[in-house]
Amino acid sequence: MKLSNQASLMAVALATANAAASSSSSSPYTPRTYSMYSPKASEIAQHASNATTNHRTSNVSGAATNRVVQIWLENTDYDKAAGDESLAWLATKGITLDNYWALTHPSEPNYLASVAGDYFALNDDRFIALPANVSTVVDLLDTKNISWAEYQEHQPYTGFQGFNYSNQETFANDYVRKHNPLMLFDSITNDADRLANIKNFTEFYHDLNGSSLPQWSFITPNMTNDGHDTTIKFAGAWARGFLEPLLSNEYFMENTLVILTFDENETYAVKNKVFTILLGGSIPESLHGTTDSTYYDHYSLLSSVEANWNLPSLGRHDVDANVFQLIANATNITNQVVDTTYKVNNATYVGYLLDDKIALPAPNVTATNKNGKGVLQKIVSVWSSDYSSQASASYFTSTTTTQSVASLTDVATLVSSNVERSAAASSTSGSMSSRATSHANVSSSVSHGGSGVVGLNWTSMLTLLIASIFA
Ligand SMILES: *[C@@H]1O[C@H](CO)[C@@H](O)[C@H](O)[C@H]1NC(C)=O
Ligand SMILES: *[C@@H]1O[C@H](CO)[C@@H](O)[C@H](O)[C@H]1NC(C)=O
Ligand SMILES: *[C@@H]1O[C@H](CO)[C@@H](O)[C@H](O)[C@H]1NC(C)=O
Ligand SMILES: *[C@@H]1O[C@H](CO)[C@@H](O)[C@H](O)[C@H]1NC(C)=O
Ligand SMILES: *[C@@H]1O[C@H](CO)[C@@H](O)[C@H](O)[C@H]1NC(C)=O
Ligand SMILES: *[C@@H]1O[C@H](CO)[C@@H](O)[C@H](O)[C@H]1NC(C)=O
Ligand SMILES: *[C@@H]1O[C@H](CO)[C@@H](O)[C@H](O)[C@H]1NC(C)=O
Ligand SMILES: *[C@@H]1O[C@H](CO)[C@@H](O)[C@H](O)[C@H]1NC(C)=O
Ligand SMILES: *[C@@H]1O[C@H](CO)[C@@H](O)[C@H](O)[C@H]1NC(C)=O
Ligand SMILES: *[C@@H]1O[C@H](CO)[C@@H](O)[C@H](O)[C@H]1NC(C)=O
Ligand SMILES: *[C@@H]1O[C@H](CO)[C@@H](O)[C@H](O)[C@H]1NC(C)=O
Ligand SMILES: *[C@@H]1O[C@H](CO)[C@@H](O)[C@H](O)[C@H]1NC(C)=O
Repeated sequence: MKLSNQASLMAVALATANAAASSSSSSPYTPRTYSMYSPKASEIAQHASNATTNHRTSNVSGAATNRVVQIWLENTDYDKAAGDESLAWLATKGITLDNYWALTHPSEPNYLASVAGDYFALNDDRFIALPANVSTVVDLLDTKNISWAEYQEHQPYTGFQGFNYSNQETFANDYVRKHNPLMLFDSITNDADRLANIKNFTEFYHDLNGSSLPQWSFITPNMTNDGHDTTIKFAGAWARGFLEPLLSNEYFMENTLVILTFDENETYAVKNKVFTILLGGSIPESLHGTTDSTYYDHYSLLSSVEANWNLPSLGRHDVDANVFQLIANATNITNQVVDTTYKVNNATYVGYLLDDKIALPAPNVTATNKNGKGVLQKIVSVWSSDYSSQASASYFTSTTTTQSVASLTDVATLVSSNVERSAAASSTSGSMSSRATSHANVSSSVSHGGSGVVGLNWTSMLTLLIASIFA
């Protein structure tokens, strides 16, 4: 077969896979379902009066910074954000990252992945709850009592677990759970003390003014301010309005690293790169207005926190994600050059949340992160046995046999993931989920590569595709 034919065959197959993954009517998968918690206003008011709020702070010294603040805006293509005058102004106060990538579409999987090192094959914004044995960054921070919190604008009370909270006059979207990453985990919601760290903006200003800001925080503006229901001009103006006073607040700025980013690029057909700026007192003035073109993605939020405080890992994609250069410099970590030629990051993989017949992927309990630490001991204890059995390939064999055929789309999804993965030299040695990506629907005769990168090349992928078409 000529190369041009191979290429078009591939294009057709990928399009089919994408269509299947995004349209429930033609999807061969049964998504894992959860019952949605969506309380009435009266119920919310009742609970609000009982909510308790923690105001914890700490001062555990990090290699390059003592405080990490993440602020997420919504759905904007890189060039549009870079061209916004408010964001351009902010860029003069810090370092622009012009090679920072979102992981997939739509919003929720990106938020999910930023705290857990995987998006578990989520491909929509539905109500989900990861079981209590799935750990997050909070479990890592807790090993050193590094204080943490979230600030979610207009979350009606601390620890609110509902699906959304609308503006009570206009009923417009205001607070949404899908943009509240830690709320998606039973390891948080089952624990009242942890829930007391999931606060709103009223509490942010309480903590700012009371010098009780935590060392790790995640800030989500509401659906108006983050650009979801408005424009980049609106979101940019909000970001400048929120940050400008903070940039001259001595308490806020001291030893602080702010990461202002976007959950995803708006246009699904283009590369899912997002405009990102690093700000705060931890950045030397000599670097203000500069650009760093190192490859980063939302997993860098985890690897950088691990490196900064020399923490163990989650054994997922946090393990080998590039670390923000400021922190890499301070810890002698060498980042990888990642070839993004074939990278799009606009598809999901076949796994746990997309298909209820697929088990949770075990983390790689034997992995070592960029700062040389192993996986958190608690995770190793819980997951060692699943890791061994999944690594021995029975995981993949069983998922192959339990799935209905739909082999063209399955294999095409597989191919799509592998194209991206083989292009991304550094993105595979960590999590079992990469191997779920790679193997979930391939027959067990495909050789399993030693490093978590599958033993597939273009020839073998095409062979699989062709075999599936003519099967
Ligand atoms: C509020 O707390 C009181 C006292 O602990 C309890 O009796 C009541 O059930 C709680 N209400 C709600 C809505 O949780
Ligand atoms: C944290 O400790 C450092 C010294 O290690 C000190 O310079 C800094 O002022 C402290 N910050 C806060 C907020 O207490
Ligand atoms: C963390 O705090 C707990 C409770 O205050 C304490 O028992 C523990 O020793 C602390 N751990 C570290 C590493 O500081
Ligand atoms: C924020 O949370 C606090 C604490 O639960 C609550 O009292 C307050 O009403 C909330 N503020 C807003 C604007 O929803
Ligand atoms: C979002 O928050 C801003 C204040 O920061 C408020 O003006 C706006 O009305 C809120 N959006 C909604 C839909 O309530
Ligand atoms: C992902 O990007 C590719 C390449 O631009 C495009 O062909 C494909 O349709 C996109 N997928 C989705 C789901 O939009
Ligand atoms: C999405 O991001 C890419 C960078 O990877 C950028 O080139 C592109 O312009 C963005 N999309 C659009 C429609 O601008
Ligand atoms: C990291 O170190 C390199 C080499 O010394 C330097 O050029 C770069 O500016 C540093 N980057 C940061 C963010 O500190
Ligand atoms: C990094 O390397 C330099 C030079 O080799 C050394 O002086 C420094 O102690 C190292 N720092 C760390 C955190 O390992
Ligand atoms: C994790 O929890 C889920 C849900 O309770 C359970 O099905 C699974 O077996 C657990 N896995 C491990 C390794 O504990
Ligand atoms: C787990 O990580 C180790 C250490 O990086 C690596 O050698 C091994 O191949 C990984 N396991 C899998 C199944 O990817
Ligand atoms: C591609 O994989 C096939 C099957 O594993 C193998 O026979 C072939 O030698 C590989 N080709 C290259 C160029 O590595």
